[in-house]
Amino acid sequence: MPEPKRNTIFGAVYGGITDRLSQRKTLSPVPESVRIDGKTCLVTGANSGLGKAVAVDLAKRGGHVLMACRGGHPGAGDEVRRLSGSDNVEMLRVDLSDLRSVHTLCDRLKRGGNRVDIAVLNAGVMPSRARRSAQGYELMFAVHFLANRVLIDRLLADGTIRPTPRSGQTPRIVFVSSESHRSAGPIDFDHFAAFTDYGMKDGIKHYGASKLHMCTYAQELSRRLNPGGEVQAAVTSLCPGAINSNLAREAPALMKLILYPVMHMFFAAPEKAAAPVTYACCAEEIGRRSGVYLHLMQEKRPSALATDEDAGTKLWEASEALLAKHAP
Ligand SMILES: NC(=O)c1ccc[n+]([C@@H]2O[C@H](COP(=O)([O-])OP(=O)(O)OC[C@H]3O[C@@H](n4cnc5c(N)ncnc54)[C@H](OP(=O)(O)O)[C@@H]3O)[C@@H](O)[C@H]2O)c1
Repeated sequence: MPEPKRNTIFGAVYGGITDRLSQRKTLSPVPESVRIDGKTCLVTGANSGLGKAVAVDLAKRGGHVLMACRGGHPGAGDEVRRLSGSDNVEMLRVDLSDLRSVHTLCDRLKRGGNRVDIAVLNAGVMPSRARRSAQGYELMFAVHFLANRVLIDRLLADGTIRPTPRSGQTPRIVFVSSESHRSAGPIDFDHFAAFTDYGMKDGIKHYGASKLHMCTYAQELSRRLNPGGEVQAAVTSLCPGAINSNLAREAPALMKLILYPVMHMFFAAPEKAAAPVTYACCAEEIGRRSGVYLHLMQEKRPSALATDEDAGTKLWEASEALLAKHAP
């Protein structure tokens, strides 16, 4: 079947529905009996949708779950504790649209001597029109890419994530991306990180572009952390498929009248959509590989743009300058 174009809202919804209806499950869900006792799991955007479902699942399996969320969700930690039956859940404050807040989170993890075994970079946003992050970048570029770039850079530099090939101790870094990355054009390095104004209609194109940045970064990170082929950190990126979540919360009221019933009928509940994330976090075999991309419960290659090594190097170098610019 031809790849649906996901650069319009209709295309994205249609693509999400056809993916669900035609999905070929080539990977088996991780049985509930698989445990991750003693592992510390950082999950961003864990107060809602997919992130919350992942936090509950990892806590149920014995993980020490650090829910990295914005302020304003006082009950989220208690809810994850109640749903998982585990008290081994902590809430940490972070606003990924502000790099100072990302550094503050990293400082706190470092001070607390935390070691993160599994990082799930899940937080996502779909603004109704162009908005700036605290440092003036386009919001989705900032949240989906730049914040994760800074977060992982710091966690590695601080020893909060420690790459090691030692069996059972190899850390896992999981990027929640989207199939919409395939509909994006090449990253424009001549205008890298430049803010562009857009309205409702073009938001989905910028969403796809930010997810292409994320997928390209995941591939480059994987290559840099695992030179020579021996896996020291298992980097996975994935698309969880269409989820009946809060992601479209900024859509206009009239659009929601149509969109919400469609999402309710055809999109997966977050608990179901979590299956590929659980696989990336807990399945034994994927913990020994890196650079893998999952779409639902199927392994695929990410787009050719995302695997282009030249683009990966350029993205790494261009963003390195931003890391330096915003270092505390
Ligand atoms: N929904 C889909 O159909 C779909 C399809 C493919 C991929 N995905 C991806 O799946 C991931 C989870 O999305 P979802 O569908 O579960 O949506 P969701 O229910 O809206 O959850 C998104 C989470 O990200 C958090 N977040 C957003 N901006 C943040 C910021 N600046 N700082 C910290 N946290 C922030 C949100 O926190 P607040 O509650 O504070 O805003 C929320 O916890 C996203 O990366 C999304 O792109 C979703």
